[in-house]
Amino acid sequence: MSILAPSMIAANWWNISQDVQALENAGCTWLHFDAMDGNFVPNLTLGPMFLEAVRPYTKLHFDTHLMIDNAGNYVDDFLEAGANSISVHWENNPHLQKVLSQIRAGGAMAGVVLNPATPVNVLDAILEEVDYVLLMSVNPGFSGQPFLPLVIPKMQRLAQMRQERGLNFLIQVDGGVSAKNAGQLVRAGADVLVCGSSIFNERPLAENVAQLNQSMAAANAVEI
Ligand code: DX5
Ligand code: ZN
Repeated sequence: MSILAPSMIAANWWNISQDVQALENAGCTWLHFDAMDGNFVPNLTLGPMFLEAVRPYTKLHFDTHLMIDNAGNYVDDFLEAGANSISVHWENNPHLQKVLSQIRAGGAMAGVVLNPATPVNVLDAILEEVDYVLLMSVNPGFSGQPFLPLVIPKMQRLAQMRQERGLNFLIQVDGGVSAKNAGQLVRAGADVLVCGSSIFNERPLAENVAQLNQSMAAANAVEI
C-alpha cells in the first residue's frame, strides 16, 4: 500500500488546523514539511517551530524534508519538534553518513534526497543505511512546478537496486505529483507520494485525497 504525504507548504497557513483536521478525516497518515533556507534553494519556508506548533494537535506522521545547508546543525531541533522522519539532500551533505546516523539515533526514519539531475548510483555506498530515498521530480524550492518525467527511469533503477540487494527502504517522490501520474509512479516503485498543489489548490481536500488514493490503489492492484 502506498502512502500519500500532503505537502504543508501548499496548505492554508491562516487556518492550518482546519486543513490538518480535514486531511486526518480523509484518512491521511503522513504530513510532509518543507524546510527551505534561501541558500540551498531559492525560497524561505518553515523551521522546527512550525512543527512544534502543530505537533500537540495531531498524531500524524511528520515527514520533514530539509532543503537547508548544514542540515546536521538543525536535525536535533527538528527531532525535538516532533519529526518522525527527516530527509537531507545528497547534494549539500558531504558528511551524509553522519547526518543519517544522527537522525536514526534520535529515533526517526532517515532519508536521503536526490535532485532531478543527480543519478541514483551516487547512493551505492549508503543504501544499507537509509530508511527511505526521496527522488525529486522538480527542482526543489516551490510548490506548483511541472512534473519532470526523468524521475521515472531513475525510480525504476532504484527499485531494481533495492530488489537486487534485498533491501526494504521506501521510495518517495516529490514535485508535480497528481492523480494523473500517481499510478505510473506507484508502478515504477514509489511507496510515498508527496502532493502539494494537487491536494490544496482546490477544495474540498477530501475529494483530492480520494482521487489520489484511487489512482494509487488502481496501480497497486495492477501490480498484484
Ligand atoms: C518542492 C517541495 C515539495 C512541494 C510539492 O521543493 O519539496 O514538497 O511542496 O508541491 P507540488 O506537489 O505542488 O509540486
Ligand atoms: Zn518536499
